[in-house]
This record gives sequence, structure tokens and C-alpha cells, in this order.
Amino acid sequence: MRIIVYTGKGGVGKTSVAAATALRAAELGYRTIVLSTDAAHSLGDSFDRPIGPEPVAVAPNLWAQEVDSLRQLERNWGKIRDYLAALFRSKQMNETLSEISVDELVVFPGLEELFCLLEIKRHYEEGKYDVIVMDCAPTGETLRLLSYPDLARWWLERIFPVQRAVLKVVRPVAQPLVSVPLPTVDVLDTAAAFIRELEKMHALLTDATKSSLRLVVNAEKMVIKEACRSFTYFNLFGFPTDGVVINRLLPEGVRDDYFRGWKDLQEKYVTVIEESFYPLPVFRAPLFDHEVVGLTALRQLARACFGAEDPARLFYRGFSQAIEKDGQGYLLSIRLPFVEKGAVSLAQRGDELQIQVGGLKRNVLLPRALVGRKATSAGLEDGVLKIRFGGEIHGAP
Ligand SMILES: Nc1ncnc2c1ncn2[C@@H]1O[C@H](COP(=O)(O)OP(=O)(O)OP(=O)(O)O)[C@@H](O)[C@H]1O
Ligand SMILES: [Mg+2]
Repeated sequence: MRIIVYTGKGGVGKTSVAAATALRAAELGYRTIVLSTDAAHSLGDSFDRPIGPEPVAVAPNLWAQEVDSLRQLERNWGKIRDYLAALFRSKQMNETLSEISVDELVVFPGLEELFCLLEIKRHYEEGKYDVIVMDCAPTGETLRLLSYPDLARWWLERIFPVQRAVLKVVRPVAQPLVSVPLPTVDVLDTAAAFIRELEKMHALLTDATKSSLRLVVNAEKMVIKEACRSFTYFNLFGFPTDGVVINRLLPEGVRDDYFRGWKDLQEKYVTVIEESFYPLPVFRAPLFDHEVVGLTALRQLARACFGAEDPARLFYRGFSQAIEKDGQGYLLSIRLPFVEKGAVSLAQRGDELQIQVGGLKRNVLLPRALVGRKATSAGLEDGVLKIRFGGEIHGAP
């Protein structure tokens, strides 16, 4: 069983690449399902046919599903939401919150997407497919949420402060005495189940023998920057990442003067991408002269990206960045391509760290723990750049 999750900034081509990957995997003989979690659901547009909240067959060996986030939310969070709403509306809070804001507050950003991701786990456990391809909403935020099962546990234990056994005995006595509603056993069960699901999901997506993430980018500054940020977090939180797809590159044949500037820029950014995500393999797809709609166009996109390769293969295993506590400060280790030695120069600007070693330039988006700390030393050891960050946090200059 293989799980592949595509993510990237809005509009870069995630849905197209996910659908193309799934089609090629199906054609190679894997029983494959492609899921989208995006409320906008463009998987149907890619396959040029309606697709619903249940898996539908779209080609031999291939099924597609547009996960219904509202249904998932209701199933997993309905009881908790109702309890939280009652809690927020209770005497102590209802003066500051309007009805509508209560409804908004009981569903956190990223939560719906998180429940959609749980569909991966359901398919995994049912075992009907060999390959599960996920087309994620345009952000890495959800995966960060997934890294927080411990935090979720902590949080839920504070929202539901009274232990279940105690609650059973005390509720009839306690409820009239306290001004906030106490959770029912049902609510506690839902909360416990939610945490268990999160933990299993996290275990599945961080297991490099089963899962990997892939970033889809365009050769544009802001897109790359966001992908670098996601990559830093995937490394940090232990999500295996095994490839980058650069989509919409201007093809060789375009010689029009109007596009010359764009072509030069793209060439420059392709190098930036190769350096930034090293040692991940980088796949490329051209900007076609048509939309990527329907099986023929998807097949063409898959061929452009992966050639004769099996796209369900794990293309890379390992992490290219690591961060560990080092006395009062931190040690950031980054694998660098092609460089064994050379003077290292670093420039820090906000959460960006620009590294130059010999002819190599690389930008790393720093995780929050390192922002505001000064790099105190840096050195290369066996192709790994080790940067020490001091203990003191400085404010913005
Ligand atoms: N290489 C390409 N050449 C031409 N058109 C493309 C290419 N890749 C994607 N497209 C088209 O660009 C549009 C956006 O692509 P897609 O829906 O895959 O992006 P997305 O990253 O999933 O967007 P969103 O963030 O909105 O979900 C679609 O109309 C698709 O057909
Ligand atoms: Mg999409």
C-alpha cells in the first residue's frame, strides 16, 4: 500500500498532477484511488466528469472521490462542536460572543481539511487499493495540525477537565452547581476517538515505508518560497517528502520575444528549486497549449513528469534538514548538494536564511524556533552544513 500526498500553493497544478499520477499508477496495474479534500473540488474538472463524495470508477483500476468536508466534520466533530457551542453560549461567555461567532469558533481553521485527511486512513484500513493519491488543499497547515496529537490531547483534556468516571458520578450533583455545561460521556468518547484517529493518521503519514509527500510548484518566487516553508516543516515534523514537481514550464519550442524574459526567469528558478529541495528529485512538466482536462491530457501530463518511471515508487527516502537542541540554542543541519568544502557565508533576514557555500546559494525558511536567534557558527561536515543558533532571541532590527 502506498500513500502519496500532493500539496503546494493555490493554482500551481496540484489537482492535475495528482490525477495524472493516479492515472499512470492505475495504468501500471495498481488499484488506485485519487481523493481531493478541497471544498472547491476540481477533480471532476480534471477527469471531465462528475465525481461525488463516494469513490467512483473513472478508468480501469482507477477510482476518484471528492471528500465531503461537511459530512466528515459532522461525523467526527459534530458532538464536540455542539458541546463547545453550548459551553461558549453558557452564562460566562455569552455576553461577549454573538451567535454567529460561536458557530465559527467551534470549528478551527484546518479542521475540516484534517477530517478529510482521515479518509486516507479509512481507505488504508479497508485495504481495497494499492495506491492512494491525495490532492490536498493549498497549504501545508493541515499537516502541521496533524503533528499535534499531543497538543490536541492536552487541549481536549483542559476543555473536558473532569475525568469520565468521576463525571458519571458527579454530573447529577455537579451540573446544577456549576454555570458551564459539563460534557456528556458521548462527547468524551468522541473526543477520545478523535485523538486516536489523529494519532493513527500521524503514524501513517510519517511512515516512510507507506507514505510520502510531494510538492507541486511553478517556477515563480512566491510559489517557491511557500514550498520551501512547507518543506522545512515536513522535515521538522518528520513527514517524508520524496519529490518536487515543477509545473507549467515554458516549453523549448517557445521562442517568442515576449516570453524571453519569462524563460530566463524560469531557468533561474529551476536552479533555485533544485538547490532548495536537494536531494529530492525534481520532475518537470511543460505549460501545455491546452488545459489538463480528460484522460488523454492527464496521461500526457504524467508522461511529461515521470516518463517511463513508476510514479507510485518512493523516489527518495530520508530527511534533508534536522533541528536539535544544542545547549541553550539550536543546531540546524542541512544537506547540501555537490559541496564538500568552501567558505560558508550566511545572511539572515526575518525567517529567511541565505546560505552561500562556494558557488551554491540556497535559501532556507527558518522554523519559528529559530527566527530571531543569531547564527553563531557554521561548518560543513560530510556534505552536511551545521549551523549553530544562539540561545538569545533578538527582536526585529
Ligand atoms: N501543465 C499545464 N499546462 C496547461 N494547463 C495546466 C497545466 N497544469 C494545470 N493546468 C490547468 O491549470 C488550472 C489549474 O490547475 P489545477 O486545478 O490542477 O491547480 P491546483 O493547484 O489544484 O489549484 P487549486 O489550488 O485551486 O486547487 C486547470 O485549469 C488545469 O487544467
Ligand atoms: Mg486543486
